[in-house]
Amino acid sequence: MTRLSLIASLIPPCRRLVDIGSDHAAVPIALLGRGVCQRAVITDIRKGPLDVARRRVEAAGLSDRCGFILSDGLDRVDLQEGDVLLISGLGGENIAGIVERGYCRLAPVRRMILQPQTKEEALRSMLNRLGISIADEQAAVEDRRPYLAVVCGRVSEPYGAPLTPLQLQFGPVILDRAQKLLLTCSPPKAGTGVPEAFVSCDGDGSFTDIYKALQSLSLSSAVSVEDRARLVYLTAKIDKINRRSRFHPDDKTVLAELLSRLRTY
Ligand SMILES: C[S@@+](CC[C@H](N)C(=O)[O-])C[C@H]1O[C@@H](n2cnc3c(N)ncnc32)[C@H](O)[C@@H]1O
Repeated sequence: MTRLSLIASLIPPCRRLVDIGSDHAAVPIALLGRGVCQRAVITDIRKGPLDVARRRVEAAGLSDRCGFILSDGLDRVDLQEGDVLLISGLGGENIAGIVERGYCRLAPVRRMILQPQTKEEALRSMLNRLGISIADEQAAVEDRRPYLAVVCGRVSEPYGAPLTPLQLQFGPVILDRAQKLLLTCSPPKAGTGVPEAFVSCDGDGSFTDIYKALQSLSLSSAVSVEDRARLVYLTAKIDKINRRSRFHPDDKTVLAELLSRLRTY
């Protein structure tokens, strides 16, 4: 699944889709065309991309169902009851800033789809600070690169326990799914207490064994497409932190904590 098709799949039927930083407006055009949303508000901070969006919407014959707003984030956007809010393809810190600045106006929003290109931990950290629950985390793998998408419900929804440093780094849903998959696809081998996948990796549950187990699950046809993409995201994130850990001792601690969390059955 491509990044844009993942984003489109996360948008429920709605009266109005508000797309912040829309640029080419590909998602609203596709969803209006399919009748998933009745109207769309297309915004961008720059006039150039907004003009491009306007032309593409015109070419698709959808102008009467779209509004266009030149706006920094939500600054000039009036949100309405039942709106679905999309912010995709921007850096995680930028998305976090947009949501945080517009927080007091988010009550009418039914669902937010946030798709950061970088620094997703900054995004999760902001959601955690504001008490906004993460309902789902999905990933798309395009040209072998994983793209994360975070789904949140209403800001008024009750918030559970604050996220741990590990959940902030790797994602609460991603970690839960990885742990459940390790357990279900690889129950402990009788008498050893060591998950089968680790045993078959010739090991005893060391970091490399768990990494290999996650990688093999990410390729397994027994695992759903959604979970496979989540595991590609997780292993890519582990790779990145592992590379960095040569220069940042704190990252070694993060990986050690991840190992102990994934070994807890
Ligand atoms: C890489 S494009 C992403 C386009 C599309 N949303 C996607 O997912 O493919 C990023 C767009 O966000 C716009 N942008 C960046 N910061 C913004 C902000 N604070 N408010 C609104 N738009 C912003 C940029 O001008 C650019 O057109």
